[in-house]
Amino acid sequence: MNHCGTVPLETARCRLRKETIEDAQAIFEGWTSDPEVARYMSWEPHRELSEAIQLLTVKVLPNYPLPHYYEWGIVSKDGGGLIGAIAAIVKDPADPVVYVGYCLTRRLWGKGLMPEVLSAVLDFLFDTVGVSVVRAKRQALNRQSGRVMEKVGMVHYADGLETVKGREVPFCYYEIRQEDHRIRRLAR
Ligand SMILES: CC(C)(COP(=O)(O)OP(=O)(O)OC[C@H]1O[C@@H](n2cnc3c(N)ncnc32)[C@H](O)[C@@H]1OP(=O)(O)O)[C@@H](O)C(=O)NCCC(=O)NCCS
Repeated sequence: MNHCGTVPLETARCRLRKETIEDAQAIFEGWTSDPEVARYMSWEPHRELSEAIQLLTVKVLPNYPLPHYYEWGIVSKDGGGLIGAIAAIVKDPADPVVYVGYCLTRRLWGKGLMPEVLSAVLDFLFDTVGVSVVRAKRQALNRQSGRVMEKVGMVHYADGLETVKGREVPFCYYEIRQEDHRIRRLAR
């Protein structure tokens, strides 16, 4: 494994970069305060800007020096500023399996942006970091997130139950293997 931290990435329409404390307002207004974005997430919508500041100062920014910490802010190249975030979660730096999660501001849903961004993150994880498998999960009702996973070639391999916000809810688990991603890319 060649962990190299949250390096800048680029897609046709977006730049991916580390988040900074100056992003707190855009994160709060763009997605963490939106109940529709938070609907299937593990967190409740933020009510105050201070919650986004706390998220950044406690959970994100202190981890950037770690070589196996991957959390990108997504910036629209058309001048729209910060529009979302995507993370690759490494549970053990020696484990070749990583987990991805993502959020996009609601005004930009349905334009294929997250599949484009996730595809670039998969390229990075497989080609640069050298992971073997990338996994993701979604609540069964979150079909729009399932579509993102399917569009990048992730395969639904299992179902389960998890407790979220005090309720037991069904989940669908997806994965893509390095070899399948490579074949898929060659076929493009
Ligand atoms: C999941 C999410 C990242 C999708 O990103 P996106 O860039 O809109 O993805 P796509 O444009 O490929 O759209 C995916 C699907 O969303 C659905 N969709 C599109 N526009 C939508 C809208 N305005 N409202 C609701 N659903 C919509 C469609 O079913 C689409 O699939 P299709 O292209 O086959 O019709 C985005 O909806 C989001 O941020 N949701 C809230 C956070 C979340 O659920 N994160 C994932 C947790 S597992």
